[in-house]
Amino acid sequence: MTDKKSNAMWGGRFAAGPDAIMEAINASIDFDKRLASQDIAGSRAHAAMLAKQGIITDTDAEAIREGLLTVLSEIEGGEFAFSTALEDIHMNVESRLKEIIGEAAGRLHTARSRNDQVATDFKLWTREQYDAAISGLDALIRALIAQAEEGADWVMPGFTHLQTAQPVTWGHHMMAYVEMFGRDMSRFKDARARMNESPLGSAALAGTGFPIDRHMTAEALGFDRPTANSLDAVADRDFALEFLSCSSICAMHLSRFAEELVIWSSAQFRFVTLSDRFSTGSSIMPQKKNPDAAELIRAKVGRIFGANVALMMVMKGLPLAYSKDMQEDKEQVFDAADNLMIALAAMTGMVSDMSGNIDNLRAAAASGFSTATDLADWLVREAGLPFRDAHHVTGALVAMAEKKGCDLPELSLEDMKTVHDAITDGVFDVLTVENSVASRTSYGGTAPVQVRAQIARWKEVLG
Ligand code: ARG
Repeated sequence: MTDKKSNAMWGGRFAAGPDAIMEAINASIDFDKRLASQDIAGSRAHAAMLAKQGIITDTDAEAIREGLLTVLSEIEGGEFAFSTALEDIHMNVESRLKEIIGEAAGRLHTARSRNDQVATDFKLWTREQYDAAISGLDALIRALIAQAEEGADWVMPGFTHLQTAQPVTWGHHMMAYVEMFGRDMSRFKDARARMNESPLGSAALAGTGFPIDRHMTAEALGFDRPTANSLDAVADRDFALEFLSCSSICAMHLSRFAEELVIWSSAQFRFVTLSDRFSTGSSIMPQKKNPDAAELIRAKVGRIFGANVALMMVMKGLPLAYSKDMQEDKEQVFDAADNLMIALAAMTGMVSDMSGNIDNLRAAAASGFSTATDLADWLVREAGLPFRDAHHVTGALVAMAEKKGCDLPELSLEDMKTVHDAITDGVFDVLTVENSVASRTSYGGTAPVQVRAQIARWKEVLG
């Protein structure tokens, strides 16, 4: 299998072409063709810079820049014949450019290497994904705020250990996710600001002796500045790792909300009705309406966090500068980005469409002795008991209600007095779930007035 012609791009010192297995393990074109438009943008900026610096002629630069647009339109039109023998997107594009414009194409690779080229292309691609994640999160946060506004004072059970804890408001619960996705958004923004430096012109690893202008290409490609160390620039994949790590945390948040939607939409809970648009049926059980979108969102964190771990392991222990190991970076990021974006979009759709079932939420909030803490607080405030004693007295009242098979507000005053004689009629005011939530006005608390204040703050933040 060694009778093939050697590679036209790098085959000068090779007498024979690669073995078929070598070609198969080496080629990345099957996936890195997704970098085509970034590759062409990078090459166009590079060619313009080479001409401005007098490294190539204006005529050659013009031919290269025009020819690259032709290649791009062939790729976008689906007419481009990708070749595995040409390994990757960089060599596929350059080889086609040569067919179109002739020898001038060979001048494009002056003062450049595939090492800075791939770092630049991949950064440009990943930067778009940062932006997509930020706008996807913006849409999701807005959908959650709309839910919070509608149900700022709907009462529902708040849980710890998935056991009824205290009544909370629907708006408060929605706004908890706004905080989580808000942190995700700020993480993506932080990382995007950090990664926006251009590797182009770092060449293979050491920079170049040609009088290039790295600031010019950086600016043309929308980077804030060129990277400051060429060894680091071609060896760095932090921008991809940070994307995967931000995505992992975001996907984890999505999975938590998805899990709640699965529970809430069950026949046993009925807290929420998901729209038909975001549910599926069963092929055998006609009554079923399944929350498949929520389940899939719940699952996505698996592959996204998997990608994060996989790339960490690829990068671990690599000596400077570029090693071919790093070619394994792209598929992980492609897959994670695709799945994060679809998960964000599906969650946004589900949240926009879903309706909270106010009566079921309230009924559930009122069961399970959810206002026991309010009762204990009342004993502290109105009867002067130390909190520990109040806790004990309330425990006895809960046990009494449990034995009678009723809820706390259904106990008679006489029965309550047998547990502690300082209890008066006034206690019934705090036993309703509405009063319970309305009383929790501490900053960030569940009271509708606090929830509305947070909604107003967030609307200002989002603009
Ligand atoms: N396909 C390669 C990658 O994705 C491009 C860079 C190749 N550089 C090299 N020196 N072989 O990493």
